[in-house]
Amino acid sequence: MEVLNKIRILMEIRLLHSVSGFRYLCASTMESIQLGDKTFIPYLQDDVIHEAVQRIAHRINEDYAGKKPLFLVVLNGAFLFAADLMRCINSDCKVSFVKLASYEGTSSMGQMKQLIGLNEDLKGRDIIVVEDIVDSGNTIVHLDHLLHEAQANSVAYAALLFKPKAYSKDIRIQYVGMEIPNDFIVGYGLDYDGMGRNLKDIWVIKS
Ligand code: IMP
Ligand code: MG
Repeated sequence: MEVLNKIRILMEIRLLHSVSGFRYLCASTMESIQLGDKTFIPYLQDDVIHEAVQRIAHRINEDYAGKKPLFLVVLNGAFLFAADLMRCINSDCKVSFVKLASYEGTSSMGQMKQLIGLNEDLKGRDIIVVEDIVDSGNTIVHLDHLLHEAQANSVAYAALLFKPKAYSKDIRIQYVGMEIPNDFIVGYGLDYDGMGRNLKDIWVIKS
């Protein structure tokens, strides 16, 4: 059953841009980790994640050549993605942080709380929002509203991961590392009730 589930997950994962040498984590299908009451199995290995980060950085470097974008990192989940992404960005840029919350346990709660606010002057800036994952899209809708109200010149979204089956909004996400099925994952910044953010690979909940 576990093997069948694994095969289903691997078949469902789609890359937005096909890249040769893409490697899924399949060497250790029997491995699992326990976080609180949930068990997680391997999903995306760190080298696969870093290739996705580099693809996003490459495109941003091309699109923002000669500009001075402001990267707005959505805490907490995007902290590792942002740290790796920023080290691959060539252009003159600034980095700022915002903290919102809509998730409790393993599902999006819909209602958005702003825990750390925007304190940069956003007027006239070219902003790139850095998100670990876009799921329902509630977070980016909330941010999009704030950023347009603040009169940003342009707003783009960079998400390491995107769950197209969960996404119900119209906002375009310009930079997506990988599209994944509607499963709950942890690692590389993503958490389950605060646990698992430090994991270098990404793990999926065992159903
Ligand atoms: P959204 O507002 O539903 O798009 O979700 C936004 C936030 O929920 C993301 O930035 C993540 O921090 C969190 N999130 C979404 N899916 C997952 C997941 O599978 N695991 C852990 N956190 C998630
Ligand atoms: Mg997030």
